[in-house]
Amino acid sequence: MNHQVVALLTIIVVASSVQVYDNAISLPLNNHGNYLGVTARIGTPPQSVELLVDTGSEVSWVVIPENPHCLAPADSKTERDFVLRDNRLMDCHKTGVFVCNNSSTCSKTKENLFITYGDTTTVEGVYASDTFGFGSSDELSLRYDFGLGTNTNSSFGVFALGIPSHTVKNGKATYTHKNFAMRLKDEDIIERVLFSVWMNEEQTTGGEILFGAVDRAKYIPPLVSMKVVSDDGAHSLPRRFDVVLSDISINKFTGSKVGNHSLFNMTEEYDGELMKALPDTGSKLTYLPLSLFDSLISLFDERIPLSGSKKFAVECPVNDTVSFKFGTSSVNLPLRDFVSDRKHHHSKLSTHPKYDASKRYCVLGFMPKDGQEVVLGHAFLRRLYTVFDLDTMQISMAPAVYTNRSEVQPVTLHEHLDTVPDVPIDGAQLSGPAMLDPAQDFIADTNGSFYRHRYSSRALNLIARPSLLTVAAAVAIAMLIVL
Ligand SMILES: *[C@@H]1O[C@H](CO)[C@@H](O)[C@H](O)[C@H]1NC(C)=O
Ligand SMILES: *[C@@H]1O[C@H](CO)[C@@H](O)[C@H](O)[C@H]1NC(C)=O
Ligand SMILES: *[C@@H]1O[C@H](CO)[C@@H](O)[C@H](O)[C@H]1NC(C)=O
Ligand SMILES: *[C@@H]1O[C@H](CO)[C@@H](O)[C@H](O)[C@H]1NC(C)=O
Ligand SMILES: *[C@@H]1O[C@H](CO)[C@@H](O)[C@H](O)[C@H]1NC(C)=O
Ligand SMILES: *[C@@H]1O[C@H](CO)[C@@H](O)[C@H](O)[C@H]1NC(C)=O
Ligand SMILES: *[C@@H]1O[C@H](CO)[C@@H](O)[C@H](O)[C@H]1NC(C)=O
Ligand SMILES: *[C@@H]1O[C@H](CO)[C@@H](O)[C@H](O)[C@H]1NC(C)=O
Repeated sequence: MNHQVVALLTIIVVASSVQVYDNAISLPLNNHGNYLGVTARIGTPPQSVELLVDTGSEVSWVVIPENPHCLAPADSKTERDFVLRDNRLMDCHKTGVFVCNNSSTCSKTKENLFITYGDTTTVEGVYASDTFGFGSSDELSLRYDFGLGTNTNSSFGVFALGIPSHTVKNGKATYTHKNFAMRLKDEDIIERVLFSVWMNEEQTTGGEILFGAVDRAKYIPPLVSMKVVSDDGAHSLPRRFDVVLSDISINKFTGSKVGNHSLFNMTEEYDGELMKALPDTGSKLTYLPLSLFDSLISLFDERIPLSGSKKFAVECPVNDTVSFKFGTSSVNLPLRDFVSDRKHHHSKLSTHPKYDASKRYCVLGFMPKDGQEVVLGHAFLRRLYTVFDLDTMQISMAPAVYTNRSEVQPVTLHEHLDTVPDVPIDGAQLSGPAMLDPAQDFIADTNGSFYRHRYSSRALNLIARPSLLTVAAAVAIAMLIVL
């Protein structure tokens, strides 16, 4: 159950540069306020570009200077917009553009790409392949497929770490373009196709992404692991890093009273589509399905809608918490992590009839989204060290520790990053056990399209004990037959 550490390296460093370990690579994450970036060095000679690190998408790409949305380099200004607004031109050169023609190792293909992101930005382009690395060129560089963004209204490219698109034949997946972690494994730089994400405490500081290893100094064990869920039945490979959420609650403290409001839960009566949750480095905010967003907003009597956006201002939370439950493990986080508290909001709000000058207002960092998926953005990831494992298709989480220390433990191929039960629920701590396996714990829809199931808390408790697993499954099947 516990980590079988094969190679242990303890290195005390201020991780501000690329670190190359035996069987692991660490990259610094640069916090740009609106996005977390890495500085990639692409081509020969290397050209530096800043890319958004995205566990929520699967295609890496760079901006090219011919993008019609980019300003000519001479017109570059000091200010840079996150995205194109009102069709104004963007200063793409701030983050860096890539010129394939200037690289002696770059080769373009005829394969096109087109992506639309959650924030409405789009990219149209063509695939290329080149040497792709980080840090000084000899530290880490390998051949990698990425897109050339010929027409995009995003002012920077993406370093995508999501599950790449694939076809499955005879139970074996073939990836059209492998992601960077897979390429590192191909090159024997890491042993396990896995990476860990750590964000530092301050909202302005960066973090670290560690390939092939976990950094034992940066979380409080145990890591709680859960299976990534696939959206087309238990038999296919997942397409996104979604895990199953069984409850989201807001705990409001008024004086000495606690009001627990469940926005969503899979109780014994629950019979619907699974609620998925995506830990997403590419998302600053937390996204909730529409109905959950509405329930959340309705909990704040004094809410004030912000004009021109889907955001709401509420009285700044002090002791309130939000809890997310994965299987039987829950994590309870301060609601104040999920708001932005800036003075300038007040001027925008003061004209609203509900505005009360004696109160302090914060803007909720939750946004509505279509579909049955919660997107867990930076507020969540800052509290939880998160490990994305493509070899076992599992996500593991543990409360983050904010430290300069590093204790890099490469993860070997057959090692388990499993749960140890019963850690108290407090602050950002997770309580176990939870080894939620959708393939076993849920019954796929007869149409094979979505999981539907009757979720029995009784059955789940049993699942915590492996010897009783078959009993639980039998109970679940019996229930299905009875219905
Ligand atoms: C590509 O680079 C070569 C020399 O390196 C130059 O002759 C050629 O004009 C360039 N092509 C474009 C489209 O910039
Ligand atoms: C590409 O090469 C040309 C010609 O050497 C140069 O003028 C231009 O600045 C280069 N572009 C980049 C992005 O390096
Ligand atoms: C980006 O372009 C797409 C397609 O033209 C458009 O629908 C979208 O609103 C644009 N987004 C932004 C933020 O400009
Ligand atoms: C309500 O939430 C608080 C804070 O997380 C927790 O201590 C308490 O046990 C919860 N009560 C119920 C009934 O869930
Ligand atoms: C489950 O959620 C519903 C609202 O969706 C709520 O009415 C109910 O009290 C919740 N049950 C528990 C056990 O939290
Ligand atoms: C928050 O909790 C502290 C300590 O329990 C308490 O003194 C304070 O009144 C609470 N504040 C609010 C707004 O509930
Ligand atoms: C981390 O490093 C910074 C910069 O070197 C230093 O100021 C800070 O005290 C260190 N923090 C810890 C916890 O060691
Ligand atoms: C299967 O699909 C059909 C047609 O789309 C639909 O009517 C039916 O409700 C689906 N069955 C289940 C169990 O969802």
